[in-house]
Amino acid sequence: MLNLDAPRPSDDPADMLDLATYRTPHKIVAAELKDGLAVVRWSDGRVSRFHAIWLRDNCACLACRHPKALERRFLLIDETGEIRIKDIDLTGAGDVEIRFAADAAGKPHLSRFSAAWLRHHDYGDAARAERDHKPKLWSGIKDFELPSFDYRDVMKTDKGLHAWLSAWKDYGAALLRGAPAEPGEVVKIASRIGPLRPTNFGTIYDVITMPNPNASAYTAMALEPHTDLSNWQSPPDCQFLFCVANEAEGGSSVLVDGFSVAEEIRRANPDAFEILSTREIEFRFQDDGCDIRRRSRMIQLADDGRITAIRFNNWLRTAVDLPSTEVESIYRALLVLWRALRNPRFYTRPRLMAGDMFILDNYRILHGRDSFDPNTGRRHLQGCYVDRDFVLSRLRLLER
Ligand SMILES: [Fe+2]
Repeated sequence: MLNLDAPRPSDDPADMLDLATYRTPHKIVAAELKDGLAVVRWSDGRVSRFHAIWLRDNCACLACRHPKALERRFLLIDETGEIRIKDIDLTGAGDVEIRFAADAAGKPHLSRFSAAWLRHHDYGDAARAERDHKPKLWSGIKDFELPSFDYRDVMKTDKGLHAWLSAWKDYGAALLRGAPAEPGEVVKIASRIGPLRPTNFGTIYDVITMPNPNASAYTAMALEPHTDLSNWQSPPDCQFLFCVANEAEGGSSVLVDGFSVAEEIRRANPDAFEILSTREIEFRFQDDGCDIRRRSRMIQLADDGRITAIRFNNWLRTAVDLPSTEVESIYRALLVLWRALRNPRFYTRPRLMAGDMFILDNYRILHGRDSFDPNTGRRHLQGCYVDRDFVLSRLRLLER
């Protein structure tokens, strides 16, 4: 237990028992108790306000947080009486020290918070807006050049890997060039990020023409822009598409930023947007081994209206099953979306060469291809998926 009578080691920086690296160029210039809140003033003029219960709950002392598991062991539910701040000090290291008033059992508590940790966890409007990741929307064959990265940089350096994954996070799509054009290479690259996510097509799939295809991808047909496995409750989110060979005539890729398209529909056609973001259609995949179906909205929104996912895959759509009064309107809205996906204003058309690879956000970027003539040369892509959680985790580890 913490001994409150022990001398305060106030010149040491507060250890928040957090592996992430928090840095801030701003210093705390004053901290005071006002209306029960801890009010922190920063050297850049920002004022942060922290509630007593929030501070007490986030105390990182050894009594409140496990020193090895780094997880909370403080039990808020067992606190007796109101949690109140008694006084606030700045330490010699520039951190904040909070003394909580004794609870009903007569137990006071001392907590210390590092300035950088507080800056990164400030929940004021300005701080939250600053932390918010805003995807960089893109559109068009003219103005968008896919961010492109060198295979060796990504495979051999943390900086290269970080830049490549950051581009995926911002743009939803990035290109890797110069990999050995070998079958299986896609697994080596994806495994640098995290374990692969299996689907009904296996852990890795080959996009080649097959004599008896169980999916449109395994033909030479053109593929309309689509998201993969729209028929799953949780489609895979990070997709790797690697080119082993692309010698056939045709077969260029098409990529569309679904978020850009959806924002344009929201602006230009709010009625269609309303239907696409509230009504569900069903997607289904069936073969001898499975029958996987899911009803879903084609545009998915967060509570604040932000677009969180696009789901569209024409060959997996099943028969519309909605009230009769809504059937015509869902088709109208679907066609608004589909026409926009085909609009050259929105798509880019890169051609994968042997040793190139896309990394795509399958919840945002729709991908497709032109038809090709398998009699004119070999076309062989390999694909696999990694969960978004692993991608974002890898990024955070690289940022430590
Ligand atoms: Fe696909």
